[in-house]
Amino acid sequence: METDVIGQSVETISSWLKKDKISFEDKCILVTGGAGFLGSWICDVLVRQGAYIICVDNFASGQKGNIQQLNDFDNFEFIKHDISEPIFFDRKIDVVMHLASRASPFEFARFPIQILKSNTIGTWVALGIAWKHKAKLLYTSTSEVYGDPDPQFIPTPESYNGNVNPIGPRSCYDEAKRAGEAFVIAYHIQHGLDVRIVRVFNTYGPRIRAGNIYGRVIPRFIEQTLKNKPITIFGKGTQTRTFLYVTDQIYGLLKATHNQNLAGEVINVGSNEEMRIIDLANYIKELATSRSPIEYFPLPVDDPKRRCPDITKAKRLLNWEPRTTLKEGLTFTINWFKQNLIN
Ligand SMILES: NC(=O)c1ccc[n+]([C@@H]2O[C@H](COP(=O)([O-])OP(=O)(O)OC[C@H]3O[C@@H](n4cnc5c(N)ncnc54)[C@H](O)[C@@H]3O)[C@@H](O)[C@H]2O)c1
Repeated sequence: METDVIGQSVETISSWLKKDKISFEDKCILVTGGAGFLGSWICDVLVRQGAYIICVDNFASGQKGNIQQLNDFDNFEFIKHDISEPIFFDRKIDVVMHLASRASPFEFARFPIQILKSNTIGTWVALGIAWKHKAKLLYTSTSEVYGDPDPQFIPTPESYNGNVNPIGPRSCYDEAKRAGEAFVIAYHIQHGLDVRIVRVFNTYGPRIRAGNIYGRVIPRFIEQTLKNKPITIFGKGTQTRTFLYVTDQIYGLLKATHNQNLAGEVINVGSNEEMRIIDLANYIKELATSRSPIEYFPLPVDDPKRRCPDITKAKRLLNWEPRTTLKEGLTFTINWFKQNLIN
């Protein structure tokens, strides 16, 4: 394991799973996007549980460094491949976890077609594999399927159908995920496939990429504060988001994959503690003891004003709720960034 921070957090997830008697031992699991932020955590946990992991990734936004610690394991196999192209496996696959997709706002403008393909054609390819192998499939959708929800739908339940611009700058991601969900449900309806959709809300932790100023907010703020560079805020910073530490997200995803009787279900997994972006910036600045000033930029088109999941369903169906405080999660993440990214 490349750092103690990650080793400690992987141990935490493993102990939670053990307590719940959730094991993927002896299962063969295909993880698409397994070299990315969330995918590599899943591989780390499941390889150590004794599952056979086939990680498929084209390194669009993932990194070799995220999975290099797994090369010594006999039960880990990596295939460099674009999941929007067909792929076949001789080994019997028991579970498909389809995560492959660029997911950072700064990539929406640069790679919209790839993002559309990964979530539409790529989801169709992943479903075809699951169908052929009679495997279960988990699809990581996103809170972005809700677009910019009407205020009466905050916190947002899974039953809210969304307020999404189909041709705006975010549509390649939002609409692709919506189409991906439609594909998943179609396979459930037409072929009776055992599928589950998790709508992932903003998640952070070690290995998340900082990107550039348009990258994801927490790694961007952490990198800027650690380098004492200006913290970039879009608009006045009064827009809200919620932030879940990676251990809680991986635990939720693995529970959603493992639990019985969830075929065809869609479940929000995220923190329900809503926070203004300006408050997050100041909090990270305080935790990192930084001198960074704050700089304001125009708000991007279609940026959601508020975002917060209703997690009643995750509590009921998964017996899941966040366990890590923002302070703990941010401290882990800042420490990891200090060790890994700052020269
Ligand atoms: N992290 C979050 O806060 C968040 C929030 C909502 C949804 N999600 C979803 O969770 C999933 C994982 O996100 P992440 O944060 O780990 O992002 P990430 O960019 O770190 O990981 C995505 C991985 O998919 C790979 N990939 C992309 N297109 C591919 C393709 N066509 N074929 C094969 N591999 C491909 C990338 O190389 C990368 O390794 C994504 O589907 C994303 O939409 C994440």
